[in-house]
Amino acid sequence: MGEGQADGLLIMPRDWDAYYRKNDWPTEPVLVVRRFGPLIPEGPVLDLAGGQGRNAVFLAKLGHRVTLLEKSEVALARVQELKRQSGLALEPLSADLELLKPDLPSGSFAGIVQSYFVQRRLLARLPELLMPGGLLLVEGFTQREAKRRGRRSPRYWHDGELKDALPTLQLLAYDEGWIAEAYRVWAVWQKPKPG
Ligand SMILES: C[S@@+](CC[C@H](N)C(=O)[O-])C[C@H]1O[C@@H](n2cnc3c(N)ncnc32)[C@H](O)[C@@H]1O
Repeated sequence: MGEGQADGLLIMPRDWDAYYRKNDWPTEPVLVVRRFGPLIPEGPVLDLAGGQGRNAVFLAKLGHRVTLLEKSEVALARVQELKRQSGLALEPLSADLELLKPDLPSGSFAGIVQSYFVQRRLLARLPELLMPGGLLLVEGFTQREAKRRGRRSPRYWHDGELKDALPTLQLLAYDEGWIAEAYRVWAVWQKPKPG
């Protein structure tokens, strides 16, 4: 499927249900989750557009209850199956995170993951969902990667964008560069504790 235009914005290029039916997807968690997931304090975790659960499974194995929001029914069924087989504390929920104001679970999370899903409005709402001391982990491709792929799309982070994206949180770690042939960026923020 080609990239399309909707409301003046380029929409997601893929029919993810069809994509997941036909293709394998990595089961290893992404870099920022491997490195910083173990530092998430005790408590529930929210995985946004969590796909087939590669990050959620890793975090659930660390002892977190993980709520995974996702639009693809194929991916949600896969996570449900993983939950059944493993007994891990996974809660896959259907959600459209492209809505102007998507329904997000209330409560405060010890960790939030947004991996390879660029939604700036959503990112801006995440600080309020974090508990003090909680970590937000984001990883994705940048415009440099879009250029390498010959694409023009807002669904890639701008160069340096994440560094200043969330001024109410403390940026603990940030890096970008060529990893596994693609230009990627990742960032880790912490919600300050009061006082
Ligand atoms: C590149 S994949 C990343 C999946 C996962 N975060 C990971 O790193 O494995 C993008 C995911 O976003 C999901 N997605 C796309 N549009 C969405 C929407 N409007 N609401 C929720 N999820 C969406 C897709 O179904 C897909 O699973």
